[in-house]
Amino acid sequence: MKLDSLIPAPLRKPAKPGEGNGAKGAAPADLKTAPPERPTDTKKLADRAVEAPVDALAWVDQRTAASGFLTGMLFRKVPKGTNWFYTLGSATLFAFIVQAITGVFLAMFYTPSTTQAYASISHINNEVFLGAFVHGLHKWGSSVMVILIFLHMGRTFFFGAYKYPRELNWVIGVVLLILTMTMAFTGYLLPFDQRSFWASVVGININGTGPVVGPYLSDFLRAGPELGATTLSRFYAIHMLLVPGAIIALIGAHLYLVVKLGTTAPPWLKAKKPKAAAPVSQLNASANGSDK
Ligand code: HEM
Repeated sequence: MKLDSLIPAPLRKPAKPGEGNGAKGAAPADLKTAPPERPTDTKKLADRAVEAPVDALAWVDQRTAASGFLTGMLFRKVPKGTNWFYTLGSATLFAFIVQAITGVFLAMFYTPSTTQAYASISHINNEVFLGAFVHGLHKWGSSVMVILIFLHMGRTFFFGAYKYPRELNWVIGVVLLILTMTMAFTGYLLPFDQRSFWASVVGININGTGPVVGPYLSDFLRAGPELGATTLSRFYAIHMLLVPGAIIALIGAHLYLVVKLGTTAPPWLKAKKPKAAAPVSQLNASANGSDK
């Protein structure tokens, strides 16, 4: 093997005129049969433009090795019998992403103050471009996410997916469920109209009836003797920063475990017995090594 071929072309010693060592820019031996590369060649430039995103991805991948995780996730083996019920987790994830994106746009126009909150919501609904649409998506999307998370939990429960070795993923799921309910509860107060005000009073009082931590929890949520400006600020901070951050981190851990452990086969497949079991005498013989 020629040593030159091991060195990347741009780093090779430039060739003498007429010699050509394969490096870019080397003078060709015969200008008629091998004309020099023209930088204005539009086809080549177009080809390069098409390859540019691939090159950029390869550049990132060389530095992060992220494609290993992505291909592992996208091309992972799933058990026989996997069906539409297995899409409920991804559907919940999609609902969360929609909530996150619409929430960012709502936050650009919403004011968390007792005197301006309702007016800012009216402004979003009536004057902001696509405001009613984005607000509607966020409002109905919250119910969709709650419904989907319960359906997903039901699927994992009825398919026995909470059993060994997936108990930790079930526990993470339970925390995700509590956090999703917290999102729905804290978001409900934000428009600060009569309905949201009194619903939050009832919700905080219900929390207060919980054993041991209940009264502390309701005091923490109310953030003062009465529901008011401090409550609204606290609910907004919980709704915007605290809980979404925790949800994102936990979804990351949840999906990591899904990829690592794989998903559970449907129970009706697991219950099937092998068509022909080997006789016990043969199994004993192979266990003792006397069948060789
Ligand atoms: C934000 C909420 C959640 C998201 C985005 C989410 C996402 C997912 C996804 C994408 C999967 C892959 C398989 C599938 O879709 O069924 C999965 C699996 C799983 N999830 Fe969730 N999940 C959430 C909440 C929950 C909850 C509330 C529970 C239960 C309390 C739970 C327990 C599980 C378990 C045990 C598995 C493994 C399933 C199996 O092995 O077949 N998840 N989750």
